[in-house]
Amino acid sequence: MKYSVVFALLLLGSRTLAQSPIDVKKEFAFAAQQYERMLASHPDTTKFPQSTNPDGSPRDMKSSWWCSGFFGGSLWYLYEQTKEPKWKDAAHKWSMAVAKEQYNTGTHDLGFMLYCPFGNGYRLTKNEAYPPIMLTGAKSLSTRFDPKVGLIKSWNKLKEYNYPVIIDNMMNLEFLFWASKTSGDKRFRDICITHADNTMKYHFRPDGSSYHVICYNPDGTVAAKITHQGAANESAWARGQAWGLYGYTVMYRETKDKKYLQQAQKIADFYLNHPNLPADKIPYWDFNAPNIPNEERDASAGAIAASALLELSTYTGAAGKPYYQAAVQMLQSLASPAYKANLGENNNFILKHSVGHKPGKSEVDVPLVYADYYFLEALLRYEALRQKPGFRS
Ligand code: GLY
Repeated sequence: MKYSVVFALLLLGSRTLAQSPIDVKKEFAFAAQQYERMLASHPDTTKFPQSTNPDGSPRDMKSSWWCSGFFGGSLWYLYEQTKEPKWKDAAHKWSMAVAKEQYNTGTHDLGFMLYCPFGNGYRLTKNEAYPPIMLTGAKSLSTRFDPKVGLIKSWNKLKEYNYPVIIDNMMNLEFLFWASKTSGDKRFRDICITHADNTMKYHFRPDGSSYHVICYNPDGTVAAKITHQGAANESAWARGQAWGLYGYTVMYRETKDKKYLQQAQKIADFYLNHPNLPADKIPYWDFNAPNIPNEERDASAGAIAASALLELSTYTGAAGKPYYQAAVQMLQSLASPAYKANLGENNNFILKHSVGHKPGKSEVDVPLVYADYYFLEALLRYEALRQKPGFRS
């Protein structure tokens, strides 16, 4: 073949690559159709869309469940993309439905529950009713931080342990950073840094993977390193890896301390180079699940990781390219018929094939409200990145 022809083909190839492989507008148009149906089937704002029951019926939960903020959050993302007032109204209604949880000191999940709906709502509308709700919530969350232990307590009890901390807890820190900046109270920020530093010290293995649960003694020493939702104490539960990746990316965003960036990259490298990560880059529910390849995938972990990797790719210069490319591949997989529902099916959720708690035989191979939330978030991040001046795919 002549060099000129080879060159022309290479050029054509690079042009094709540079074109957007994901049609964000189309994805949101589909999400809007599903969520219009979801709103119509959920007239009662005390029943939050969560998943599908084993008999196929919709599984709804109360506002005190850790996932109650995701539906409102997704409605805000629909508003952000479409700018249609009907989504703003629905998002406000479903955000306010969680507001009473600002006083809930019995959970560590207030970041998910309050910041996903109200944080996005405030970012998009500057509705001054939202910050006081979030600030009360941040104070409630802070009551779970014992300075002697140096971490926010996740659950009040697990087996014989009284101070269990799960890797998921890294996801609450973005909320506390916001509270610190808004209120001027440095204590919220100090909690984030202490919690993240101790998590870095105790939660991670040398290969960059993390335990699900570390149980602490009252003096802050480690009592046990175990799992609750993973396949085994020494396994790498997929969503836990995604929560850690997202959490340390946020830590770097908020502090610019390079040790958090390195931690996020270490987690990303573990995740992306793992021999059990399938070719479509959507993980099995646990990287060490016993019957791979005959194990369920977890689309929620895929969506969380995609969103985190898109942000991480912006902090890492040339090293960020594989993160960006992996995230795009994850989004392409999630947007394909393998994971995306048909219109009107899947109890009106967008994504299929997530796993909530396999050892507990709960929410296995089902839609999950937070898989949809992080999918929409990742799509918006992808779109924003591509519009940045000087963007190179
Ligand atoms: N935070 C609970 C979970 O990821 O399942």
